[in-house]
Order: sequence, then structure tokens, then C-alpha cells
Amino acid sequence: MALAIGAGVFVAGQLRAQDGPKSVWDGVYTEAQAERGKAAYTQSCVFCHGPDLAGTGEAKPVAGPEFLSSWNGLSVGELLDRTRTTMPQQQPASLDRAAYADILAYMLKFNGFPAGQTELAQRSEFLTGVRIDAFKPEAPKLAASAADAFAHDAAENAPAPNSQPNPYATDTGFFKLPVGRTMGSSSAVGVDSKGHVWVFDRCGVNSCAGSKLDPVMEFDAKGNFLKAFGAGLFNFPHGLFIDAKDHVWLADNRVEGGKGAQVFEFDATGKRLRALGKAGISAEGPDTFAEPNAVLVAPNGAIFVADGHSSGKGPARIVKFDASGRFVKAWGVRGPGAGQLEVPHALAMDSKGRLFVADRWNNRVVIFNQDGKLLDIWSQFGRPSGVFIDRNDVLYVADSESREATGYGHNPGWKRGLRIGSARTGKVEAFIPDTAADAEQQATSGAEGITADGRGAIYGAQVLQKAVARYAKPP
Ligand code: HEC
Repeated sequence: MALAIGAGVFVAGQLRAQDGPKSVWDGVYTEAQAERGKAAYTQSCVFCHGPDLAGTGEAKPVAGPEFLSSWNGLSVGELLDRTRTTMPQQQPASLDRAAYADILAYMLKFNGFPAGQTELAQRSEFLTGVRIDAFKPEAPKLAASAADAFAHDAAENAPAPNSQPNPYATDTGFFKLPVGRTMGSSSAVGVDSKGHVWVFDRCGVNSCAGSKLDPVMEFDAKGNFLKAFGAGLFNFPHGLFIDAKDHVWLADNRVEGGKGAQVFEFDATGKRLRALGKAGISAEGPDTFAEPNAVLVAPNGAIFVADGHSSGKGPARIVKFDASGRFVKAWGVRGPGAGQLEVPHALAMDSKGRLFVADRWNNRVVIFNQDGKLLDIWSQFGRPSGVFIDRNDVLYVADSESREATGYGHNPGWKRGLRIGSARTGKVEAFIPDTAADAEQQATSGAEGITADGRGAIYGAQVLQKAVARYAKPP
């Protein structure tokens, strides 16, 4: 017994010695060093960054949520390099290396990371393996208090991922395209009040840039092609929403050739009514978008756009406009915390007017009220690329990315496919697994875009398989 315990301690000790600290949660500086750092900071940095490290004017905060969300996932080595080579702004690299390390120790302490037994190294080479994790690894998704408040949903509503029954039959040949036209990659599909299905595909391939094809296609409820429009207007079709007037709203995600990064409203005849954003300009602003993913129009006419497709850079925000298209507000910063977002990929609204956001990179659906107040966080629907809610508050979520492997799509235990459940209770009732054989090797497979006609049929728009599948329960 004593031997076994001894061996265990030995192994653990050896591992730690070999690997070194992995993250800022491992105690990477000492209290004494942080004390020295405070003095050095007060001398050289406080003038611009303030006594509370919150920044002043142009000088960015060096503590708090904004700082953490921009450095999250990067290393302490990178932060040390960046600080030493550019700060103090008027005289970069003017302090000795020990002072920079001390100041960093103070910044880490101020940001809530624990002190430990060894001092922070003065050379960035020794710190490249130390990750800045905004949140403690054991609770990676949420700040502690928010995690407690929302924890019940995941626990009560998802006894086991992927375990729900699949009562649906899949039809991948439902849509009949004109001769010579094949379905391209798509993440955008919707159903209008007549039961007609609209698909916004990527012009037969995975991009419309330079194509002469019409990417906005209307089919009847039997899958017969009715008409198409939109040739030459879009680069990267991404989002589609059909409003109460059967107007078709479209989001073009990418900038190229003076086009893109815009949201458009068309009437059902294909007449363009308006555009939001500026053509060909990718930027985070009140009248511009960086990478608009999705658009949704509330019953009162308010327009919501989910902006930001890249994890780790650019915005991750929801932009709200009034019915006339005037900017009202935007919310959301990049990050894994409660109320933060990372790639808000799709939008849906329930009968209570709650806005559901597919917070894809964070593997969760996040629910806000229409003013941006966080209401709930659900992880039981997997890693969402698409979300849709029908008039009966049935929630449909498309997971096209969950992977076991670390890196892109990491969401261990979750399989790709469609999860169907209740937008009221959060309970998942059905799971339609994706059928791609080599899903683990693919960044995306199965449906990204999802909609339903409220009469039993579900449609899934697929990027990898270049198809829009129809799912229905056999009679
Ligand atoms: C004269 C004003 C000034 C002083 C003094 C100054 N800074 Fe800065 N600092 C800035 C400005 C302005 C920025 C934003 C522009 C930039 O990133 O270069 C900035 C950015 C930073 C950033 C990057 C923040 C981020 O999230 O990207 C860090 C870290 C930083 N400063 C640390 C320090 C430290 C440590 C000191 C003291 C050694 C210091 N600064 C002194 C003005 C100052």
C-alpha cells in the first residue's frame, strides 16, 4: 500500500517537472514578485493604464474581461514579448527584463490568477507553453456564478448526448433542380408561409465569387424548382431568413470584388428592397459588418444580425436595428464566459421573443432577450451551426462540427447531427445522426443550416455533402 502511494507521487512529480506549468492557473509567479511588479507598474505604466489597470483613452485595459478575451488562448510568452517590445509606449524596452517579468506577475495577479512557488521567467522563450486561459480549465465555459445559475439545464435535460431516438427518414434527393444545375454547399434554408422552400446555395460549388448562377432558389412543397435569382450579387451565401411578409433576408459573409459583408431584404418576386452594411467593406461598426453570418427579423420588425465568423479575431456580436434599419445597439464580446460569444453562427426566436444564438465555437446555444440580456445557456443541443424554432416552439439545432480530437470542433462525447427538442424546456427529444463516414477527419459534415415547415418536415443545408436533405417521420 505504502509502496503504491509512493510510486504515484513519484510519477506525478516527474510529470510536473517535465512538463512545466501549462496555464496561468498553475501558479506561475510569486506574491513577492507581484509586489515588486506593482511598484514598477506604478512608476512606468500607471500614467496611461490607470491604477485599476482598466486603461485610459487609447491605452487599452491590461486587466478585466476585454483584456482577457483578447489574450485568451495566447501564451504568457507572447504577452511578455508584446509588452517589452512596445511598452512603455514612449520608450519601448526601456526597463530591464526583471521589471517586465515583475509587472507581468502583477498583471496576472490583478486578473485573478493564483500565485505559486516559482517566479515568472524573464525570457519569453520559457513562457510560450504557459497559456492565458481566461477561465479555470475545470470550468472552461462559464464564470463560476453563471455556471451555477445555468448548470441545471444541461444536467437535467441531457441525460446522455446522442442517446435520443431518431424517428425521421432522410431524403437527400428531394429537390429537383433545373437541368445542368447542381446544388452547391449551403448553410441557408427557409420555408415561407406557403410551404415553399428557399435555398441560398453557393452557386453549385462553395463560393459565388465570379459565378453567373442564381444562388437564391425557390422550390414548392414537393421539391419542384420554381425560380431563382441573385446572380452576381453575392460572394459567400451564409444566412437566410423569411419574415412574416414572406420577404427573403440574406446574409453574404465574405468580402471580395467590392461586394459582400452585407445583409439584404428581397421580396418574394426577387426584387431587392434594401441592404444593410456597406458593400465590400468588412468592419465592425454601427453600419458595417465584419462577417455577417445570419439575419433574423422579429415580429415587431426589429432586425438582428449575428456578426463574426472567425474565432480569435474580429467581432462576435449581435447587432440590432429597428424596423427602419436604424442601428439600435450591439452586444457580445469574444470569449467563453457567460454573455460572451465566439462565432455567433445562426439565430432563431421563440414565441416569447427570446433570441437564440448558435454560439458555435463555445459549443452552446445562448438565449438573450431582445435588449441583449443573457437569459440562459444550453449545451445539451451540441455544437450549433444552425438553429431554428417553429411556431410550436420546437427547437431544431444542426451540429456539423463536433469532434473528439482537440483543435477545431473539439466537443468530446458529442456526435454531429440534428437535435430536436423544446425551446421552452430545453429538453432534447430526437437526434438524427450525420452519416458522413469520416466525420472526425472533416471540419464540417452534415447540415449547417436548418429549418422546418412546422408540419413535420425538417430541411438541413449541407456544406460538405453539397445537398439539402429533407427529414420526415414515415407515415
Ligand atoms: C504613454 C502611455 C502608455 C504607457 C506609459 C504605457 N502604455 Fe501600454 N499601451 C498604451 C497604448 C496607447 C496601448 C494601445 C496601443 C497598442 O496596443 O500599442 C497600450 C497597450 C498595451 C498593452 C496591450 C493590451 C492589449 O490588450 O493588446 C499592454 C499589455 C500594455 N500596454 C502594457 C503596458 C505596460 C506593462 C506598461 C508599463 C511598462 C505600459 N503599457 C505603459 C499606452 C501606454
